[in-house]
Amino acid sequence: MVVAQGRSRIMRVLAVFAALALASSAYAQYVIWDIWQTTWDRSKLFTYHNQNPPIPFGSPSQIGQADIVITDSQTFQSVWGFGGSLTDSSALILNNLKSKNSTSYWNLLNYLFNPTDGANAAGFSYIRIPLGASDFSASAYSYDDTSGDTSLSHFNISKTPSYVFSVLRDIRSLNNITRIHLIPWSPPGWMKDTGTMKGGSFQSQYIDTYANYLLKCVQGWTNQGFRPYAISAQNEPLNSNPTYPTSKLTASQEGQIGTKLRSLLNSNGFSSTKIIGYDHNWSAASSYPIQLMQDAGAAFDGVSFHCYAGNVSQQDTFHNAFPQKQIYFTECSGTFGSDWWSDIKWDLDNIAIGAIEHNSHTGLMWNIALDGNGNPKLPGTSSCGGPGCRAIVTVNSNGTWSVNQEFYSFAQASKAILPRDVGGPWGKRVKVAVGGSLSWALRVNAFVTGRTNSSDWLRYSIVVLNWNDSIGGWNPQPVQTTIEFRGTQATFTFPVGVTTLWWYAPPTSFDGVTEADEEPSIRFEGDSAEGQIPLKFKA
Ligand SMILES: *[C@@H]1O[C@H](CO)[C@@H](O)[C@H](O)[C@H]1NC(C)=O
Ligand SMILES: *[C@@H]1O[C@H](CO)[C@@H](O)[C@H](O)[C@H]1NC(C)=O
Ligand SMILES: *[C@@H]1O[C@H](CO)[C@@H](O)[C@H](O)[C@H]1NC(C)=O
Ligand SMILES: *[C@@H]1O[C@H](CO)[C@@H](O)[C@H](O)[C@H]1NC(C)=O
Ligand SMILES: *[C@@H]1O[C@H](CO)[C@@H](O)[C@H](O)[C@H]1NC(C)=O
Ligand SMILES: *[C@@H]1O[C@H](CO)[C@@H](O)[C@H](O)[C@H]1NC(C)=O
Ligand SMILES: *[C@@H]1O[C@H](CO)[C@@H](O)[C@H](O)[C@H]1NC(C)=O
Ligand SMILES: *[C@@H]1O[C@H](CO)[C@@H](O)[C@H](O)[C@H]1NC(C)=O
Repeated sequence: MVVAQGRSRIMRVLAVFAALALASSAYAQYVIWDIWQTTWDRSKLFTYHNQNPPIPFGSPSQIGQADIVITDSQTFQSVWGFGGSLTDSSALILNNLKSKNSTSYWNLLNYLFNPTDGANAAGFSYIRIPLGASDFSASAYSYDDTSGDTSLSHFNISKTPSYVFSVLRDIRSLNNITRIHLIPWSPPGWMKDTGTMKGGSFQSQYIDTYANYLLKCVQGWTNQGFRPYAISAQNEPLNSNPTYPTSKLTASQEGQIGTKLRSLLNSNGFSSTKIIGYDHNWSAASSYPIQLMQDAGAAFDGVSFHCYAGNVSQQDTFHNAFPQKQIYFTECSGTFGSDWWSDIKWDLDNIAIGAIEHNSHTGLMWNIALDGNGNPKLPGTSSCGGPGCRAIVTVNSNGTWSVNQEFYSFAQASKAILPRDVGGPWGKRVKVAVGGSLSWALRVNAFVTGRTNSSDWLRYSIVVLNWNDSIGGWNPQPVQTTIEFRGTQATFTFPVGVTTLWWYAPPTSFDGVTEADEEPSIRFEGDSAEGQIPLKFKA
């Protein structure tokens, strides 16, 4: 204990010394050239600004009305990106656009998914895919609707509409670092007490059959060219609704399915495919996901959360109980008729900044694309009633499209964590605190992105929401801010809106990148390490 403390103090002193030496010899070494902004009045919409001359970090002086303090010696999770679900409906809408106007389609896919550093594009990189039907499908199908077929001899991956595969193939042609997360909205109806996909409860006698079904899903998607990064057993296991594919699945059942599936995946060449449990509201963070880890923690890499009840700080309940397990934020949906700027604030506070601040590796909305009424939906479903669910992008039948508020919140956050180099590491959250008299006016996350060449400078980025908009009635006010980094200070005035900016700095002994990263050697369909599956449809 004493030895360890002494050692870590020496290391800290050395580190501080190194930082000071660097700083004093090199004021104005770190500069801010790159700025992306979305403002409340829409005068800037994910607009890039090349700051020239750049803003220097210099000798520290008085702090601003807000003071952003970055502690780069303390790093947290890597962030695998932002995105949404490619439902059957989203794929159909996009495929229709492709038929109507392919230039418009490719412009849209590029704007959403191109991950190239500096591109005028969000670079969304995490896609969730329903296995079988959801409430955004043409019919309520599973991959095996033959009642009692416990050998799964009628399993058929091609019940996925072909446009889902083709649109995903197009997305992957623009973005080969996208992670794919597979998840059913219901087990096949015959495995449930209702006998239908729509509502009901899973029956435990089918645990082994269902684990086999999920393995076949992983194999089927891999054979189509899409090796999944992760799979889950059930979307929203606490939700049974008789109007669309849903199912109750207890934590005990899910634990048993996960344990069986883990061993099936391992013995079939998918040991790197993660199993993510729960996938439901923040509100039950202290019950279902905790029980799942207690019952079957060895099988699960982590759990995922939705926004529809509870609040984002409840992710901490899970994190504190199981700090070694991962957290994913996988679903929230906007609804039509709400206020654009209020939604941006909410999305950033709770998901694009909030969920990540509370240890999530991802931030996802629900549908990637729908029409201007939130259609098409499963005929007869009560889901997304009222004004309808708004997707990240609205595609019109005349071949035009527009991105919604969710796009801007996520694009601003995505820009901060995308790999700087092709094939390079992803952004990792670093410790940040906000001081000053107007500290309340800013919500901030900070990241460090490592480099392929270890002698290249690291990228440090911050995502800053200024929501100082309503003291004494509507009154949007910029916040004059200082940014503290390695003993140097920069000054920037943040308008009401969201700003992403970055600078580069030399690698240090505590850059957080050389330490053992949980980043897996993630393998896609072109890779051969687990190539037992014939990859006929390589994209
Ligand atoms: C297709 O979309 C492009 C890009 O938005 C537009 O310039 C072009 O006019 C459209 N073509 C047709 C036939 O509508
Ligand atoms: C699989 O499903 C597709 C789409 O419904 C169908 O066209 C095909 O014939 C099915 N294959 C088998 C072997 O049943
Ligand atoms: C992935 O795409 C990038 C371009 O964005 C390309 O440079 C790289 O070679 C591709 N990697 C693989 C494994 O195909
Ligand atoms: C959680 O989310 C679902 C949406 O799927 C909702 O219907 C349900 O009422 C929510 N649960 C709680 C406990 O509020
Ligand atoms: C979040 O929910 C928890 C549990 O209900 C509650 O104790 C906490 O006050 C809530 N936090 C916020 C910021 O609303
Ligand atoms: C296309 O449809 C949208 C939604 O109805 C409309 O706002 C837009 O003006 C239309 N654009 C053209 C070029 O017709
Ligand atoms: C890494 O960068 C250094 C400094 O620019 C350069 O000398 C070296 O050749 C680079 N290494 C590789 C593998 O590109
Ligand atoms: C933030 O808003 C308050 C109230 O409108 C205002 O007094 C303050 O000056 C604003 N901050 C800045 C930096 O303008």
